[in-house]
Amino acid sequence: PVLVVDFGAQYAQLIARRVREAGLYSEVIPYSATPEEFTARAPRAIVLSGGPSSVNDEGAPRLADGVLDLDVPILGICYGFQTLAARLGGTVARTDKREYGSTHTRLAADPGTLLKGMPQEQTTWMSHGDSVTGAPLGFTVLASTESTPIAAFENLERRCAGVQWHPEVLHSEHGQKVLENFLYDVAGLTPDWTNENIIDDQVERIRAQVGEARVISALSGGVDSAVSTALVHKAIGDQLTAVFVDHGLLRKGEREQVEKDYVESTGVRLITVDAADTFLGHLEGVTDPEAKRKIIGREFIRAFEQVQRDLVEEAKASGGAPVKFLVQGTLYPDVVESGGGAGTANIKSHHNVGGLPDDLDFELVEPLRALFKDEVRAIGRELGLPEAIVGRQPFPGPGLGIRIVGEVTRERLEILREADAIAREELTAAGLDAQIWQCPVVLLADVRSVGVQGDGRTYGHPIVLRPVSSEDAMTADWTRIPYDTLSAISNRITNEVDEINRVVLDVTSKPPGTIEWE
Ligand code: XMP
Repeated sequence: PVLVVDFGAQYAQLIARRVREAGLYSEVIPYSATPEEFTARAPRAIVLSGGPSSVNDEGAPRLADGVLDLDVPILGICYGFQTLAARLGGTVARTDKREYGSTHTRLAADPGTLLKGMPQEQTTWMSHGDSVTGAPLGFTVLASTESTPIAAFENLERRCAGVQWHPEVLHSEHGQKVLENFLYDVAGLTPDWTNENIIDDQVERIRAQVGEARVISALSGGVDSAVSTALVHKAIGDQLTAVFVDHGLLRKGEREQVEKDYVESTGVRLITVDAADTFLGHLEGVTDPEAKRKIIGREFIRAFEQVQRDLVEEAKASGGAPVKFLVQGTLYPDVVESGGGAGTANIKSHHNVGGLPDDLDFELVEPLRALFKDEVRAIGRELGLPEAIVGRQPFPGPGLGIRIVGEVTRERLEILREADAIAREELTAAGLDAQIWQCPVVLLADVRSVGVQGDGRTYGHPIVLRPVSSEDAMTADWTRIPYDTLSAISNRITNEVDEINRVVLDVTSKPPGTIEWE
């Protein structure tokens, strides 16, 4: 892989994604790894990420001695650029001119290999207090800004380069080109990370891991479980049984999507557990969000365990192969966040309700462990899954249960389902899906307001629209939906959904608001 060194900011994962977009497999590695640990992962190139520290501070994150001597091509970004400069004999100093945000950058008359093929003047995105004040011997300076004379350099003989700006963020105009120039031309790599290769590779691994045993998989209707299940099915066919728990908190058409479209496109053997009565029974009278989440999580596990016991019994009775494996749609960011990377604060706190406990007596099959979300989608398409499933926006495990503020009842679910379906329809019709990360629709079941409709007074509930744009759900901004679309949604919901006489828009970013209301 191309190894992206994590210096403790959140840039490493994004860089790893951009490297994959350039067609090369990448992994994140902590800066504290030893040269042996680097070598063990057979790096084709190393990218040093940005980080919050100053290289001259005591205790600043520092690559182990020997890593820079590995004879592997290296690109330094921001802090990585500075650490590269400092370690190879250049100088880095605190200057009084901090650069933060969009910065006008000018390339040298000869932009070298790293910056070739792009405009002489461009906007890059910077975030630094220190600057490289002297390039190491043998390095050519390739770009400057008003306050930073050395903003990029390279040494082709050493196959080593660096930029002060962040080429991985979209605000850097030609950022992807910088990464590609490094990977293809400085490091001499040829792109080979393609969907077909990923699928072939996974199919082989799954077969080797599973052998003749039987496997079960929990489908949630979400993208990750849909794609991991389809991959496993491609590898082992009917050795796999998929389980779908209908907890009664699904959106309109969701169950049909899984039972019909998904099964048709994959041919997977599916068992649906009809558990709405049980779930809604346990939710009766419950209004506290955490209590709701706990109940839904617990009941999900119970329902799943029941099926699992049935399948194990069935296998025993028929003398068939034992049920030994469970498919899980774990993604690469989860792997990095739970210790695969280092130094990054653990920000995500919610446990995956709708997920399964660790003490199930199964070995895990995790075919998406190396992948980012966009790659999962691309593979789902390659496997022929319906767009309605692959292009699906995130939806929480506890479903509509945490989008009704107040007690969850069948009537309220029905109201919310209708309103949600209308909002989704109109957003799709307006071509806004790509712009929106997700748009929770929330029913304020305990709030009423006065309205007028036809000739009469109404006293109904408000519906909240919560459209957000985000890269990873950790932070988000509210999406600026065109007024016409908002108006269409509002008109339709108030006209078509009984009990709703008001539609309001949530204009809070995250933080301080979370994406969901509960
Ligand atoms: P918040 O509300 O914390 O949501 O800003 C961040 C993202 O996580 C989703 N979410 C969940 N997903 N189980 C899940 O699988 C949950 O319990 C859960 N709670 C929130 C939410 O939809 C958003 O995408």
